[in-house]
Amino acid sequence: MENWHISGKTKFCGVIGDPVEHSISPLIHNAALRKMGLDYLYLPFRVKIEDLGKAIEGMKALNIKGLNVTLPHKVAVIPFLDELDHLAEKIGAVNTIVNNDGVLKGYNTDATGFLQALLENGVDPKGRRVVILGAGGASRAISFILAREGADLLILNRTLDKAKECAARVSRTFGKKVKVLKLSKENLAKTLSWADILVNATSVGMSPNVGETLVTSDLIESGLIVFDIVYNPLKTKLQREAEYAGSETIGGLDMLVWQGALAFERWTGRKAPVEVMREEAIKALEKGEN
Ligand code: ATR
Repeated sequence: MENWHISGKTKFCGVIGDPVEHSISPLIHNAALRKMGLDYLYLPFRVKIEDLGKAIEGMKALNIKGLNVTLPHKVAVIPFLDELDHLAEKIGAVNTIVNNDGVLKGYNTDATGFLQALLENGVDPKGRRVVILGAGGASRAISFILAREGADLLILNRTLDKAKECAARVSRTFGKKVKVLKLSKENLAKTLSWADILVNATSVGMSPNVGETLVTSDLIESGLIVFDIVYNPLKTKLQREAEYAGSETIGGLDMLVWQGALAFERWTGRKAPVEVMREEAIKALEKGEN
């Protein structure tokens, strides 16, 4: 690394997960830290499930300033933290930890990063009808933030019970009814003609399954905004289908970059150089470094 000086004053951040080898967060964050001339270093840590508690204690002991948390630890990490941001508590998942002089606080910048990506693309979800595909961790974060912002939600999932559970949690928190349906071509056709925004919060279409999509162009009307949270490949089959139908699309890269940028801002207290992070992410994904 050129122009990189690690001294006794250098602060540390990183990502914990298992696996973590494919994470491009170290590239994105270190590029941003270097650009800002901040005396921080961001490192990947592979942490096994059984070592999670020790890793979090170690964060305190070693005075690591911040961590991103990725699969499979986003939920399991919660009992080891001292405080939770309101949204992270409601979602029940943490992807960012800030160490404030030995007090560890958990945040969920997947949710706020998703919202920021929408807003950056000129889409305010307030009062909009949104169909969300999937009911896993990503969907939960997205449905909570959209409900908070006043969107009207409908969740479609292959496993209906998981969709019901996700919807019930949102309803309990925001007192807002969330509809659910089983994912099928028929239900997609019905609901997409109602929707303003479609969010794919499943992993369908992710590399190496780049030819897969749950929704094809015949189901998409040109006014629909399509947000695919999959960022590898940079343009998914779903996005291509949506573009073919004349629809505006937002890719998962924007969410990835914003969840990183919002974590960066929490750790450093500085505005993140979002464009630098985006360029670095694109470079890494195009090179296949993940
Ligand atoms: P994440 O944390 O990324 O959301 P997850 O919790 O494993 O990951 O959730 C993955 C989501 O993608 C789930 O909603 C899953 O559907 P099920 O709940 O029925 O398992 C959905 N998913 C994955 N592969 C799918 C496929 N081939 N068709 C439809 N849905 C799929």
